[in-house]
Amino acid sequence: MPDADLRARFGLRVPTSRTWVEAVVADPVATLVDHAHCEMKAATTALMMAARYAAFPEVADAMLALARQEIAHYEQVAAELRRRGVHPEPHGADPYAKALRAHVAADEPRRLVDLLLVSSIVEARSCERFELLADAAVDAALRDLWSEFAVCEAGHHALFVGLAERLVGAESVARRKDTLLDAEAVIVASLPCDPRIHG
Ligand SMILES: [Fe+2]
Ligand SMILES: [Fe+2]
Repeated sequence: MPDADLRARFGLRVPTSRTWVEAVVADPVATLVDHAHCEMKAATTALMMAARYAAFPEVADAMLALARQEIAHYEQVAAELRRRGVHPEPHGADPYAKALRAHVAADEPRRLVDLLLVSSIVEARSCERFELLADAAVDAALRDLWSEFAVCEAGHHALFVGLAERLVGAESVARRKDTLLDAEAVIVASLPCDPRIHG
């Protein structure tokens, strides 16, 4: 995704490096294992939000529907791994998501808005990376999988931003998103280029 597109579609400040693309293409199985964990974490985060924010039916309902989609994504990636005779091992925290979550406000209602916006940024970065993976994939099955997921993640990005805007308005969201996007650029630049979705 060219720089200008990345900014226009998602506000992301920096494109993913070619070094990351080379690392993931060199080890598609490690990338898929990490990808499976990302989908599982996306599902559990959505369920956690549905439980915590049951008093916000629009948020809770959207999170339940999202959790179902993320579980289906997990199943697709796990099936792809099984075809290769691999089972995802238990996995530690995602350093990228963990570093972004450190910016989430502790007090409500700012916390809810921040959680929605941090999730929107994770989805945006995932979309960019799935597009890069689809372009670079030599395996047709992986190319199809990653292309399909790139479209879903773009939709999830819009879902999270829309929920936040309905809570506090577009102007507040734009201001807060700007700060979080600046933080995201620093985090992306600080992470090693490992074969991980957010490596
Ligand atoms: Fe997903
Ligand atoms: Fe997603």
